[in-house]
Amino acid sequence: MKIAVIGANGQLGSDVVSEFTRNGDEVLSLTREHVDIRSLESVRRLLDAAKPAVIVNTAAMHHVENCEREPLEAYSTNSIGARNLALAAREVKAVLVHVSTDYVFDGAKMQPYLEGDLAVPLNVYGNTKLAGEFFIRATTQKYFIVRTSALFGTHPCRAKGGRNFVELMLKLSGERNEVRVVNDEFVSPTFTGDLARQIMLLSRSEQFGLYHATAEGSCSWYEFAQAIFEVTKTRVNLQIASSNEFPAKVPRPKYSVLENQELKKKGLNSFRTWQAGLQSYLHSAGHLKYANSAMAL
Ligand SMILES: NC(=O)c1ccc[n+]([C@@H]2O[C@H](COP(=O)([O-])OP(=O)(O)OC[C@H]3O[C@@H](n4cnc5c(N)ncnc54)[C@H](OP(=O)(O)O)[C@@H]3O)[C@@H](O)[C@H]2O)c1
Repeated sequence: MKIAVIGANGQLGSDVVSEFTRNGDEVLSLTREHVDIRSLESVRRLLDAAKPAVIVNTAAMHHVENCEREPLEAYSTNSIGARNLALAAREVKAVLVHVSTDYVFDGAKMQPYLEGDLAVPLNVYGNTKLAGEFFIRATTQKYFIVRTSALFGTHPCRAKGGRNFVELMLKLSGERNEVRVVNDEFVSPTFTGDLARQIMLLSRSEQFGLYHATAEGSCSWYEFAQAIFEVTKTRVNLQIASSNEFPAKVPRPKYSVLENQELKKKGLNSFRTWQAGLQSYLHSAGHLKYANSAMAL
């Protein structure tokens, strides 16, 4: 199949390209140089010529503070961009796989969110992504909206200056006597390699719709840091930061754990635990030798 991957040089997009390529598909790796999703004309020109069977959109403006500062730009990329892709996908009869976020929820539930739960975003980023979801659902029938959470992958996250949480923790442990991390914000850290595989598998099905797609299990950022140091056998004084120590400039959900209910119902869930994803990441990123993997999964 011909697969168009948008945001192909991003953290997730790079792994999506690898996954479909490994699968034997013909992959078009598309970056901003090839298409600007804010422009319907640009999207149409590209997709009319390429006529892919599947479009995977990983492109987004997702730096939360930048979205708050530049809401028009954020809506233009995350909402209008999604609409442009849905329109063009419908015109060329392609399936659209679109990546969305756990930040569509406010966190008040304090239990894993299901696809059917009411989404009430706390910030501009979440609102723009939710609007993007609505545009897609209102425009085309052949879509997969895939909400995910707390990504980490071996390719740099372009919107966040390149360093993911795992790398940040390892860097800080070498620079400081003490590393302090919050213990009151809960996520399902998801390895981009695992999400890319789930996207590939899902795109093979005809079970269109809205999906939660995160690693199994959940943890606080403190617990995530604990696991990183444990698996890499890093000696560090890790402490719980008090909740007012790193005041958030923009409101964020304190709890954004997603349950992959729809994937499970349809027998499509391919996710492992976040700990297993972390282990794979640490191997791929060269932080572990295979013989050294000691963590109980
Ligand atoms: N990272 C997370 O923790 C996280 C959590 C939940 C959901 N998500 C979602 O997951 C997806 C992938 O995130 P990621 O971490 O892989 O992001 P990333 O590394 O920042 O990659 C995003 C890509 O989108 C491209 N892009 C941005 N605006 C564009 C436009 N107008 N036209 C074409 N391309 C554009 C960027 O290109 P340039 O760099 O050249 O601008 C970049 O290659 C996003 O939809 C995000 O909302 C991420």
